[in-house]
Amino acid sequence: MTDVLSRREFLVSTAGGLAASATLGIPHPMRPPRPLPPTPRWAARPVIVASGNGLRAVQRAFELIMQGTDPLDAVVEGVKIQELDPNDDSVGYGGLPNADGVVQLDASCMHGPTKRAGAVGALENIKTPSEVAKLVLKYTNHVFLVGEGAKRFALSYGFEEEDLLTERSRQKWLRWRANRNPKDDYLDVPETEQMVVRPTGTINCEAVTPNGAIASVTTTSGLAWKIPGRVGDSPIIGAGQYCDNDVGAAGSTGRGESNIKVCGGFLTVEHMRRGMKPTDACLETLTRVVAMTEARLLNERGRPKFGLEFYAVNKRGEFGCASLYAGEDFAVHDGTAARLVDAAHLYDEPEPA
Ligand code: GLY
Repeated sequence: MTDVLSRREFLVSTAGGLAASATLGIPHPMRPPRPLPPTPRWAARPVIVASGNGLRAVQRAFELIMQGTDPLDAVVEGVKIQELDPNDDSVGYGGLPNADGVVQLDASCMHGPTKRAGAVGALENIKTPSEVAKLVLKYTNHVFLVGEGAKRFALSYGFEEEDLLTERSRQKWLRWRANRNPKDDYLDVPETEQMVVRPTGTINCEAVTPNGAIASVTTTSGLAWKIPGRVGDSPIIGAGQYCDNDVGAAGSTGRGESNIKVCGGFLTVEHMRRGMKPTDACLETLTRVVAMTEARLLNERGRPKFGLEFYAVNKRGEFGCASLYAGEDFAVHDGTAARLVDAAHLYDEPEPA
């Protein structure tokens, strides 16, 4: 297949593509969907990988890449399902708030074919930070916008300002605040009422298309009850995710501070560049995380007191995931069906409570 289109072919494919993207409902697509080459000419085995909360994301993103949709458009459409879901309290709308009760969202993405990156941090009142990160990538000379500036940027593209705190997440925050300090003026929540542990949920999603195009995105509401203004690993290019179209992509969920210190997304891709398979690359990055962990965060056996996971795909469409502790899974669609797969792990025991 040639890359050179006649003017007529171009007009036909563009018109068809624009109609298709409107049908797909993808705002600001990277490019209109285009037909895939015949199967024997595929450059890679198509695959979508996501964190364990991304079963719907891999389903949606896989459908899209098989319609010829750009891989970044596909993964952003996938993670938006979680961002818009009020019952996922680790991502987007309904995410657990910071210590002041304000939801601040982080996201980043990379697009292998164009070598572009975009990110937003501490974004308030916009439900889908992954889309805003994609707009930074697509329409600006910058990589990373934060806070009020990021919000104004989103509003300029037609996003609506909305209250992201659902009644469910507000109730969890109120209970956390009540029990935070036994000496303050808030009466403690009775022991019998369920307390919320401090979660660090996030969704990472990566795509390899049949053409061998790669993209990745990570989006989160970050650590619940964080100090206002705290930004985790998710919007840090090279930590929360990284993508190099010649090698592959990698991303992370879990304790962001521990990932930032090893630039885990980048490091995992570099391990694959040196020839490691995706799962081995993820495990190798986790060993670096352990080596870089402060003593206060290690238990009596020298193991981290937190959870962290890495996800990776390579240029051929091979994929993998590894977690510090046993019992984690991740979501995959590689042509059969969206499914959850057990993650590899460093330690053969569940994550410490
Ligand atoms: N990995 C998500 C966060 O730490 O914010």
